[in-house]
Amino acid sequence: MHRITLIPGDGIGPEVAAAVVRVIEASGVQIEWEEHIAGQEALDKFGKTLPDELIESIQRNKVALKGPITTPVGKGFTSVNVGLRKALDLYANLRPVRALPNVPCRNPGLDLVVVRENTESLYSGIEHEVVPGVVESLKIITEKASTRISRFAFSYARNQQRKQITAIHKANIMKMSDGLFLKCFEEVGKLYPEIEMRQMIVDNASMQLVMRPEQFDILLCENLYGDIVSDLCAGLIGGLGLVPGANIGERGAVFEAVHGSAPDIAGKGIANPTALLQSAILMLNHIEERKAAEKIETALLKVFTEGKVRTRDIGGTATTDEFAAAVIEQMA
Ligand code: NAI
Repeated sequence: MHRITLIPGDGIGPEVAAAVVRVIEASGVQIEWEEHIAGQEALDKFGKTLPDELIESIQRNKVALKGPITTPVGKGFTSVNVGLRKALDLYANLRPVRALPNVPCRNPGLDLVVVRENTESLYSGIEHEVVPGVVESLKIITEKASTRISRFAFSYARNQQRKQITAIHKANIMKMSDGLFLKCFEEVGKLYPEIEMRQMIVDNASMQLVMRPEQFDILLCENLYGDIVSDLCAGLIGGLGLVPGANIGERGAVFEAVHGSAPDIAGKGIANPTALLQSAILMLNHIEERKAAEKIETALLKVFTEGKVRTRDIGGTATTDEFAAAVIEQMA
C-alpha cells in the first residue's frame, strides 16, 4: 500500500483529479490518498495558502499528485506552485511532450522532453519597488542550481536512451547569468560523451520549435524559458490538456500537469484529464508500480487510437468523466 499526498487544486483541478484517481484505482494499484487543500481555499480556512500539514504530508510520503492552483495576476498572494517547489526543493521540472494518435495537431509523431530548472531565475518573482514608477525584478542564477539541473538532464538522457540535449539561453545579452548556466551545462556534458550537446538562443529556439521541432530531443531551460517553451511545445501536439509534468527533488516529487486551473472551462466537466493522467503514469513509474503504469498507458493509447471518445479541446464531445470511463473500460 502506498500513501500519496493528493492536492486536487482549484478550477478544473478537482474535476481532473477525481477522474484520474478513479483510473488509478481501477488499475488495481493500492494507494491511500492524503488529501490536502491549498491556494485561496486554504487561505480562507487556515490563513495560509500553503498549509504546514500539506508540506509535512509530502515530506512524509515523498510523493504527491497535484491539480493546478490559481495564482492571482498582478496582486494578491504569491504562487503556491512556486512556493511548493521551493519549500520541498523540487529543483527539476520534467515535461515529456509526446504526440498522441488521432489528435489534430501541427506535429504528429513529435516526441521531445523539456527539462526546466525549477528554483531560480526571474520566475522566482523577487521584485520590489525602488521608487514609485520604478520596479526591480531580480534574476539570480547560481552555479549550484545550474550544475544540478544539468546533471539531472544528462542522467535522465542516459537512462532514457535519449541522444541529444539543447541548452536554451540568452547568453548573448545576459552574458553573466545565462552565461553561467551555459558554462555549467558544458562542464557536466563532458561526463556524458555519448550525448550530443547543442545550445540555442531562446528566440531562435522558439522559431525552430514551430518550424522544425523534430530536430530537438531534450531541451534544457532555466526556469522562465522552460515555463514558456513548454507551453509552446504543448501547442505543437494539440494543447495543454495533454502534457504531463513532474517536479523532482532529492527528498520528494510532485506530479502535476503543465496546464493551469483553466477558469474559462472550470465547473463544466469538460476538461481533458489526459495531462494529469499522464502525470500519474510518471508518478506510478516513480514509485515502481510499473505494471499499473503500463496498464493505464496502454489503455489511454487505445482510447486515443480508437478516437471515438475525445474531449472538446481536441475536437471531440466527451466529458471528463466519459473520457475516464473509456480508459477504465479499456483496462477491464
Ligand atoms: P491554463 O493552462 O489554465 O489555460 C490555458 C488554456 O488552455 C485555456 O483556454 C484552457 O481552457 C486550456 N486548458 C488548460 N488545461 C486544459 C485541460 N486539461 N483541458 C482542456 N483545456 C485546457 O492557463 P492560464 O489561463 O494562463 O492560467 C489560469 C490559472 O492557472 C492562473 O491563475 C495561473 O497562475 C494558474 N496556473 C497554475 C499552474 C499550476 O498549478 N501548476 C500552471 C499554470 C498556470
